Amino acid sequence: MKEQLEEIRRKAIALLDECADIGLLDDLRVKYLGKKGELTAILKQMGKLTAEERPAMGQLANKVRADIEEKIAEKSAQINEALEEARIAAETIDVTLPGKKQPVGRLHPLTKVLDEVKDVFLGMGFDIVDGPEVEYDYYNFTALNLPPDHPARDMQDTFYINDNILLRTQTSSVQVHVMENKKPPIRIISPGRVYRSDAMDATHSPLFHQIEGLVVDKGVTMADLSGTLDMLMKRLYGEKCEIRLRPHHFPFTEPSAEVDILCFNCGGKGCSMCKGEGWVELLGAGMVHPWVLENCGIDPEVYSGFAFGLGLERIVMGRYGINDLRMFYDNDVRFLGQF
Ligand code: DAH
Repeated sequence: MKEQLEEIRRKAIALLDECADIGLLDDLRVKYLGKKGELTAILKQMGKLTAEERPAMGQLANKVRADIEEKIAEKSAQINEALEEARIAAETIDVTLPGKKQPVGRLHPLTKVLDEVKDVFLGMGFDIVDGPEVEYDYYNFTALNLPPDHPARDMQDTFYINDNILLRTQTSSVQVHVMENKKPPIRIISPGRVYRSDAMDATHSPLFHQIEGLVVDKGVTMADLSGTLDMLMKRLYGEKCEIRLRPHHFPFTEPSAEVDILCFNCGGKGCSMCKGEGWVELLGAGMVHPWVLENCGIDPEVYSGFAFGLGLERIVMGRYGINDLRMFYDNDVRFLGQF
C-alpha cells in the first residue's frame, strides 16, 4: 500500500506539474482526491491492514493528500496569474488608435440669434419677460384695439380653444399683461412662440417666433424707437446696417411704421434678396396707441411709449441667407450643424 500511495503521489505531482489549464486542473483534482478518486479508493482498503500498520499508513495517506492539495493550490495560483496577465495584455489601450468621435449638440440657430438679441437689450437696461401662449381674446386682440369685428383679425386667423381663448397670434399680447402689472418706466422685450392657421410653405408656418419690445415712460418719442432699432440692427448685421421707417398701420400703435433695413446682401443696390428694392422689410413698430395705454390703466396724458414686433425667423434667415423657413423645424442635423 505504501508503494501504491507513493506511486499516486509521484504520478499526480508529475501530471500537475505539466498542467496549464484550469479545467484540466480540476479534472486532476477529481481524479485523485474526489470521492471516487484514486486516493479514496486506496483509503477504503485501510480496513484490511493490521492495527500496527494502520497509523503509519494513515499518516502517509494524509501526507500524500496534503502534498497533492498543495500542488493543486500552487498550480491554480500560477494559472490564474497567467490568465490575469493575458487579460491585461489583451486589454491594453492603444493610444495611437484614432479616438471615437462623440457628436456634440449645439444651439439651434433661432436660439443663437435670440440670445444675441437678448444681449443687446439687456445691455440697454431692458427686462426679458414671458407671456402665455394660450391667451384670452382680450389680450391678443381687444385690448390692442382689435375689437371682435375688426378686419385685421382675419389676417391673423388662429387656433381657437373656445370663443374666448386662443393660441396667441402675436407677442403684442404681452404688452397688455406687462402694462397691467407694472407702472412706467417700462422697458421690456418678450420673445416667444406665436401661432397662425397658415399652411406651411417656404415663408409661412403655423408656429413661428416673435420678439416684442415695449418702452413706456414720460417723454418717450419716435426718435427713441428709431435709435433703439438702429442700435439693434447694427449689432445684428454690422455697423454699416441702416434702417428706414415707412408709414404703416397697426391698430395698437399711432403713428405706426414698418421698419426696413438696407439689404444685407447688396448693400442697397438692389438684388434678388431684396427684390430690387435695396431694402428688406423686417418688423412692425410704432408709438403705443393712447387707447391701449388707457386700456391698461396708464394715463396717456402723462406717459408715452413705443413698441415693436420682430419676426425671429426672418432675422435669422437674413442673417444666414436661409431661404426656406421649414428648415428651422425639420430637425435635420446636416442643416443645424452649420451654425
Ligand atoms: N404684432 C404685429 C404683428 O404680428 C407686429 C407689431 C407691429 C408689433 C407693431 C408691435 C408694433 O409692437 O408696435 O404683425
